[in-house]
Amino acid sequence: MTVREIFESMDYGNAPEAAGDALAWIVDQGSRFGHFVGGSYQAPGETFETRNPATGEVLAEVTQGSVEDVAAAVKAARRAQADWEGLGGKGRARYLYALARLVQKHARLFAVLETLDNGKPIRESRDIDVPLVARHFYHHAGLAQLLEAEHPGRRAWGVCGQIVPWNFPLLMLAWKVAPALAAGNTVVLKPAEWTSLTALLFADICRQAGLPKGVVNIVTGDGATGAALVEAEVDKVAFTGSTEVGRKIRAATAGRGLGLTLELGGKSPYVVFEDADLDSAVEGLVDAIWFNGGQVCCAGSRLLVQEGVAEAFHAKLRARMDKLRVGDPLDKSVDVGAIVDPEQLSRIRALVDSNAAGETYRAACTIPKGCFYPPTLVAGLTPSDALMQEEIFGPVLVSTTFRTPAEAVALANDTRYGLAASVWSENLNTCLDIAPKLAAGVVWINGSNMFDAAAPFGGVRESGFGREGGPEGLDAYLRPEHAGKALKRIAPFPGKDAEPQAVDRTAKLYVGGKQARPDGGYARGIHDKSGTLIGQAPIANRKDVRNAVEAARGAAAWSAGAAHNRAQVVYYIGENLAARAGEFAARIDRLTGGRSGKAEVEAAVDRCFTWAAWADKFGGRVAPVPIRGTALAIREPVGVIGALCPDEAPLLGLVSVMAPAIAMGNRVVLVASEPYPLAATDFYQVLDTSDVPGGVVNILTGPHAELAPVLAAHMDVEAVWSFSSSELSERIEAAAAGNLKRTWVNDGRARDWSGAAGEDRAFLGHATEVKTVWIPYGA
Ligand code: NAI
Repeated sequence: MTVREIFESMDYGNAPEAAGDALAWIVDQGSRFGHFVGGSYQAPGETFETRNPATGEVLAEVTQGSVEDVAAAVKAARRAQADWEGLGGKGRARYLYALARLVQKHARLFAVLETLDNGKPIRESRDIDVPLVARHFYHHAGLAQLLEAEHPGRRAWGVCGQIVPWNFPLLMLAWKVAPALAAGNTVVLKPAEWTSLTALLFADICRQAGLPKGVVNIVTGDGATGAALVEAEVDKVAFTGSTEVGRKIRAATAGRGLGLTLELGGKSPYVVFEDADLDSAVEGLVDAIWFNGGQVCCAGSRLLVQEGVAEAFHAKLRARMDKLRVGDPLDKSVDVGAIVDPEQLSRIRALVDSNAAGETYRAACTIPKGCFYPPTLVAGLTPSDALMQEEIFGPVLVSTTFRTPAEAVALANDTRYGLAASVWSENLNTCLDIAPKLAAGVVWINGSNMFDAAAPFGGVRESGFGREGGPEGLDAYLRPEHAGKALKRIAPFPGKDAEPQAVDRTAKLYVGGKQARPDGGYARGIHDKSGTLIGQAPIANRKDVRNAVEAARGAAAWSAGAAHNRAQVVYYIGENLAARAGEFAARIDRLTGGRSGKAEVEAAVDRCFTWAAWADKFGGRVAPVPIRGTALAIREPVGVIGALCPDEAPLLGLVSVMAPAIAMGNRVVLVASEPYPLAATDFYQVLDTSDVPGGVVNILTGPHAELAPVLAAHMDVEAVWSFSSSELSERIEAAAAGNLKRTWVNDGRARDWSGAAGEDRAFLGHATEVKTVWIPYGA
């Protein structure tokens, strides 16, 4: 195109970024890459090609990591770990700072290499991905500097296996590596098979920064290499990718005592109210769904627009779509680049072509041949249409309409995912009213796809668990300094033969605020140390679990209520327990055959006071993000928590688990101490007299080993905790893979319930989810 023609058409001219330096770097490395292990590149093994998706050209060959390669990398990481952690946060901060500086120094090289390998527009890799990478290392240099002061009693997991996807190859690496290193872990990272090059360049940067050998190791390869890393001798696994693989990883790590964070897929709603600034909302939508060609886990891929403005909004949107420039990703004026790989292109095609519902509009802009897909809008769908539910992971927006705010919320939440959401209205009242009601880990008000190292990012539901960014993200790379001693299984006292049952002292279950007979109609004799029958405890079954979960779900008002009110109820439980202290103490002594009853009741009363105190003091924080506006990292209740209570402290254990959970706004299904359940059944009356709304606390008695997997598999339970003395971790974590619920299991480790560990702040973290609400403002 000549300058004259440009003046006449006012169209963009070509503005290609030079690829020479990046291509030269590949050639300098020999164009064939081995893994980066123990501080040096290894000789290439069996390799596969990595291509530029925009042109189909082969860029380099990359090694397919074997089980042995992974083991060698893990070994190198293990060798380096103690010294790395021993440097202390302040020592490590210097290295993270050096990495940040070097990323900035080589920013252009990183950006071009990323665009070549992934196909994303250079404008994005240059202005978004790489600056966010540098920002992440800076921020985590700071978190490392302050680590000992801010996270007392916590230490590194050890060796982290980290697996990242191809949509933000370098940025996801930074999100994984920076917090891991800050916390004192060493890492083995596997980039996605389509996009390994910037990770390999990062390895070079680690060398330049003088990072001790083995602290960062990069093993390339496909899903089989990833699976080998998950199976290897690592202490924590961090994964970003599809929900399907996340589920496999949850199952593969079950019962191994590993840390696990999963950042998975999404189908994020983009809600436009009729009083929104429609032109801004259209621009926001361009960012939401055409940023990185829609290959973004938190893409605003589901447009929900209020009926009155739907037609006008769609018209504006179609006009804007026609103006998008799709083409050479290295061209600085291109909006939408290439799809990462022909395989992903055919997945997108197959999903869109299989749909017959609604009306499909393809942008009228020119689409180059090859691995490109036109910006597409499929309007007029209903919530049950496959395209409204399935993650397409391409430049395809689906849309439907709503009438009222309540309907908007219902539609937005009508998904198995819960990663992000955007809300558009010029009335901030509307936005701030809607934001807490959305099932999403991130909510953008009048904006989209805003990220920052200081703001936690991550999902709820099947979008995974754990956060990346800020102190909340760092916390996922830390574990308690002291693991408890091994917990011994506690067996109930056997009864004397042919015990006469003069009085029917069968306790019941506690469901929905009422005492309920067990569905199976069975009970078990509970005996004291001498073998004398004390009473009968019902044996709950899966039907009772279902009833209890249903009751807990029905008590949703508790979660929405004021923390001040919850605090009062928890204080009141403590007060009413104190009033019956003698009776409970005697019962505990008889049940356990010990003499700790009095102290246990006193501690349980105190525990209520502690968690009541916390109820209105753990609300979250303001994340200092670099926008004109604010980002709130709000602590919300997890929802319904199923918990296996400790066997060893039948009252104190139950109270220690229940009180933090309900104080933070959750509803609970508690399975009482298995050997000593009658302390829990006596507790019903305390709950009855303490203004606890029905369904907030539900208590079952019965065998932990049978009830735990039922709770863990239940689709309406958001989290399962286990402090049981039975070995349940594997069963719970495996069953939890179904709806990817959060788990917190003791791995057979004892906790001193009467001491500080009994009111560990970790309870607050496990009882809440972080929701990050971004609120840009200004005229
Ligand atoms: P994927 O989840 O298969 O790949 C992500 C990473 O996991 C890659 O590094 C891959 O090599 C690795 N991996 C694959 N199988 C594994 C296993 N069994 N164990 C351990 N690691 C394994 O994603 P894929 O196949 O590239 O894309 C499929 C779909 O997943 C996309 O169409 C998209 O819908 C979704 N996706 C979502 C992402 C997100 O950030 N939410 C990122 C990438 C893909």
